[in-house]
Amino acid sequence: MKVHGSVRVPGDKSITHRALLFGALARGQSFIGGALTSLDARSSARVLRQLGAEISPLRIGSVIDITGRGRLRRPGNVLNCGNSGTTTRLLLGMLAGHRFAATLTGDSSLRRRPMRRVTAPLTQMGARFHDTRGDGLPLTIRGGPLRPLRYEQPVSSAQIKSCLLLAGVTGGVDVAVREPFGRSRDHTERLLRAFGYRVEDSADGWVEMAPTGKIEPFALQVPGDPSSAAFLVGAALMAEAGELRITSVGINPTRIGFLTVLQRMGANPRVESPVTEFGEPVGDLVVTHAALRATEVAAGEIPGLIDEIPLLAIIASRSEGTTIFRDVGELRVKESDRLGLMAENLRAVGVVAEVQGDDLYVSGSARPPAGKVRTAGDHRLAMAFAVLNTVPGARIAIDDMRCADVSFPRFRETLASIKVRAR
Ligand code: S3P
Repeated sequence: MKVHGSVRVPGDKSITHRALLFGALARGQSFIGGALTSLDARSSARVLRQLGAEISPLRIGSVIDITGRGRLRRPGNVLNCGNSGTTTRLLLGMLAGHRFAATLTGDSSLRRRPMRRVTAPLTQMGARFHDTRGDGLPLTIRGGPLRPLRYEQPVSSAQIKSCLLLAGVTGGVDVAVREPFGRSRDHTERLLRAFGYRVEDSADGWVEMAPTGKIEPFALQVPGDPSSAAFLVGAALMAEAGELRITSVGINPTRIGFLTVLQRMGANPRVESPVTEFGEPVGDLVVTHAALRATEVAAGEIPGLIDEIPLLAIIASRSEGTTIFRDVGELRVKESDRLGLMAENLRAVGVVAEVQGDDLYVSGSARPPAGKVRTAGDHRLAMAFAVLNTVPGARIAIDDMRCADVSFPRFRETLASIKVRAR
């Protein structure tokens, strides 16, 4: 296979969720261009409509028009967050500063995901919870007057950090958080600064927010999602020839740890025409084929590439030597047990892969991969194995490709569009 051309990926998922949430908190009309229109983005839009925001339909290519009321309104029904952990956890933070009860639920994958990681610190701030199923959904939150919080997160997670910062916003109190290692994505901090909130990164790792700002109506252009671009980068690296350009992708340093790892493995991805749009760095990614070698991905690097591990593991399976991903236990509580399923599926297609403690080992081979892949409805597993299926001679049957719609509408068509047969 050879790659060619220039392609755009859908809007950034993290920024789209945040833009929708902020739009619902602003009093008046905001506009979100380039937004993601996937199932996860629709989950955020759906629950925010139930909370009083008016939001135009999410359609590829059209600008979202969102009118917020300044505060959220008591919902008449249960809020179904679908498959989206980001919707759930960030919304819980926003709801913590509102004095009404709201019940959140989600699909079977989301209902299994841990929520105490946010309900525990929100309880310290003064919110109250009723969970019927232990550490998971459905759960009911009753917000209230909140107290300031200074909190050391047990895990590095932008969802926890953003949840608590948003509680600070709706509760009007100071919030400081610190992550154990590495730095998770900082889109919430950047947006808050744009709205006049004081958000400081201290030398010893604290992010300190003071509620000095106000969420006003805005117009924002969402860059392409680097996590979606990563799959196409992977396909281009593993292609036999050609060059692929992915235009207007977010290149926020907290999101592109995968490029640093790929460089260490021998790839030479280039960022061209970098600009800053609405506080976020954006550029074109240009990638060509490269012969890659194994590397060790350190624990401190993981928060900066958490969603790219499935794709990096696929690349590791075509690289020389054994790649080690250190301390990736957090993958067990993603949309699936991504750690266990990644290793299991790699083995199912003939790759040597194993989990030891919280570390993942993947050995490279040039043999054509073949076998059946079970995704458990996890979009990133489906897309990662679809990329592996582009190598010469591959015969991989993936049980569910439709789940790619969670983050990357038209993924299959986009992947097909960059391929041309090598001569
Ligand atoms: C996200 C944060 C990450 C990531 C998810 C999106 C966000 O989760 O896996 O896809 O938008 O804040 P964690 O912060 O829990 O690792």
